[in-house]
Amino acid sequence: MVEENRRTSAGVSPDTLSVWAGEDASLVQGATQVPVVYSAAYGYPDVDAWLDVALGRAPGHVYSRNTNPTVHAFEEKVRALEGAAAATSFSTGMAAVSGTLFALLFPGDRVVSLKDTYGGTNVVFTEFLPRFGVEVELCETTDHEGIEAALADGCSLLYLETPTNPTLKVVDIVRLAAAGHAAGAIVVADNTFATPLNQNPLALGTDLVLHSATKFLGGHADVLGGVVCGSTELVGRIYHFREITGASLDPMAAYLLIRSMKTLHLRVARQNESALRIAEWLEAQPAVSVVNYPGLESHPQHDVAVRQMRGFGGVLSFGLEGGFEAVRRVLPRLRLAHRAANLGAVETVAGPPATTSHVECTAEERAAMGIPEGLIRYSVGIEDAGDLIADLGRALEDA
Ligand SMILES: Cc1ncc(COP(=O)(O)O)c(C=O)c1O
Repeated sequence: MVEENRRTSAGVSPDTLSVWAGEDASLVQGATQVPVVYSAAYGYPDVDAWLDVALGRAPGHVYSRNTNPTVHAFEEKVRALEGAAAATSFSTGMAAVSGTLFALLFPGDRVVSLKDTYGGTNVVFTEFLPRFGVEVELCETTDHEGIEAALADGCSLLYLETPTNPTLKVVDIVRLAAAGHAAGAIVVADNTFATPLNQNPLALGTDLVLHSATKFLGGHADVLGGVVCGSTELVGRIYHFREITGASLDPMAAYLLIRSMKTLHLRVARQNESALRIAEWLEAQPAVSVVNYPGLESHPQHDVAVRQMRGFGGVLSFGLEGGFEAVRRVLPRLRLAHRAANLGAVETVAGPPATTSHVECTAEERAAMGIPEGLIRYSVGIEDAGDLIADLGRALEDA
C-alpha cells in the first residue's frame, strides 16, 4: 500500500517501525487503530471471488484459523522489525518453537542445538523429537568448536538461542550460521531475550528467527503469543503446519500485541539501560556470587555480544552465595518484583530457574545443564532503576 510504503520504507528507523509498521492493510473505515476482527470465517458474493482468495490469487481471508486481519497486522509488524520476507504467528511461543521444528523435520533428520535452550524447547528436543525418529545433539552452549564439530557430522537444522535463558550465555550467530549452512542445515534462532530492537538474527545469517511474543513484544504480562519470520518458502511451510494443526493466535491477543509493540522501542531502551546499571551494582555486592549479563565487561562472551547486539536486553541473572536457601530468603523480601514465571514485562519479575525457565526439568537435569540452585533470574521492568537497586539492596541486607 502506498501509505504503508511511505511510513515503513527502507531507511525508517526500527523505533518508527514499532509504531507504524504492518497496520495499514488491516485498517477499516478511517479507524486509526487495527480492529479486533472476531469472525471465524469471511463471506464472498460468488464462488469465483472466494476461489481467488482461497487459492491466494487475491488478498483476503477465508477462515480465521488460517489468517485473520488483526493477526496479520501483528505478523507484519514483527516481519518489518526483523527485516524478513514473511512472518507467521502462533498461540504461544512454544507453539512457534514446536511448530517450526515439526513443520521442517522428518524422521532420520538430525538437529544440532545448545544445552541452554529454554526449558520447554529442551523438552521438545529430548522427549518429543526422538519419538518421531529425529536425532538431536545438544552441545555445550558456548563451545563453538564443539558445535562446529557436531555440525560436521551432518545436520538438517541448527537451533540457536541467544542470549540464553536463564544464564544469559551468548553464541556467535554469524559464525554458527555459516557453519550450519556449510553442513546444509536450516538455521533457526530464538530471539526472545534480545528483541528485534537489540538483535536481528536474519541479518546475521540465520534462515529463521522466532519469538515468544509473550515476553518483550507483549511487554505487559497479559497475553500469550509466538511468531516466526524468514523467507517466504520456509515461513510458508511453517504456516501450512500451523493452519492445519491449529495453534493460531487469537485476534484479541494479536490486538494487545500490536498495541504493546508501539512502545517496544521505549521499553527496550529503558530496560537495556536499567539492566546494565543493576548488573554493575550487583557485581559489587558481597552476597552475590555471580552476575550474568552480556553487557558486563566480565561476561565471557561480551565481545560477541558487542558485535551482534545493539543493546544487551532487560534480563539478567545472579547467583546468591547461600544457594537455594538464600533464594528462599531474598525473593519474598523484594517489594518491587513479581515472583512469577515470566519476563519482559513493564514490572520487574524475579524467580529461580526451578520455578521459571526450567520448571519442566528436575533438579538433576538443571545441575547437568550447569544451572545453580542459588540463581535468580531478574527481568528488569520500566521502573526507576534507582528504586530497583534500593529494593535489591534492602532484600539482600535483610536476608
Ligand atoms: C527464550 C524463550 N523461548 C520460548 C519461550 C516459550 O514461550 P511461551 O511461554 O510464550 O510459550 C520462552 C518462555 O519463557 C522463552 O523464554
